[in-house]
Amino acid sequence: MKLLEDRIRKDGKIKEGNVLKVDSFLNHQMDVKLFHEIGLEFKRRFEGKEINKILTIEASGIGIACVVAEVFDVPVVFAKKTQTKNIAGEVYRTQVESFTHGRVYDIIVSKEFLGKDDKVLLIDDFLANGKALEGLSTLVQDSGAELVGAGVVIEKGFQVGGQIIRDRGIHLESLAIVESMDDKNGTIVFREQ
Ligand code: G4P
Ligand code: NA
Ligand code: NA
Repeated sequence: MKLLEDRIRKDGKIKEGNVLKVDSFLNHQMDVKLFHEIGLEFKRRFEGKEINKILTIEASGIGIACVVAEVFDVPVVFAKKTQTKNIAGEVYRTQVESFTHGRVYDIIVSKEFLGKDDKVLLIDDFLANGKALEGLSTLVQDSGAELVGAGVVIEKGFQVGGQIIRDRGIHLESLAIVESMDDKNGTIVFREQ
């Protein structure tokens, strides 16, 4: 997505350790007009697919997923990261391992908001090691819902997540795929799509 790649080049900041900061328009301050264009692009890429629910994960997926859900005209649910033990049976629960933060956490979705009649599109801001999307797809599977696909705004193509998700047979659409980036001279190379 040209508009997004241009914006990443203009306002993205490359940090040490292959971290891309997009705090000025995606992760902290949010450009909702850009989010709307992102929603329209996902709509085009999943054209003809029946989708009746968007599922994302807190925190930074929520803003984007809300705007995407408005474009798709469907409800949006976010998985909660939690440590508290809910009463068994009322939520779907799985574990997510964050390499970046070096910890394991549980994610949950209430059984009230995900079930066998749902045709789900996963949405997230970043795809790095793929653990968040793997966790979300496990929740969808456990609920008996249909996983239609996954849409991410920025995929870090040099990390393993994209491969893992595609190898699972999940229809993955990434609007910008960063092939490499250089914190010394500030250059970013995107994968041709
Ligand atoms: P994974 O879900 O792909 O496995 O992600 P990983 O554990 O590698 O990354 C942990 C967190 O860092 C995730 O957010 C992910 O979205 C985010 N992240 C990974 N690489 C980058 C990057 O280069 N730039 C930015 N801005 N974020 C990155 P999180 O902490 O789980 O969620 P949230 O609370 O921030 O939404
Ligand atoms: Na994040
Ligand atoms: Na996220």
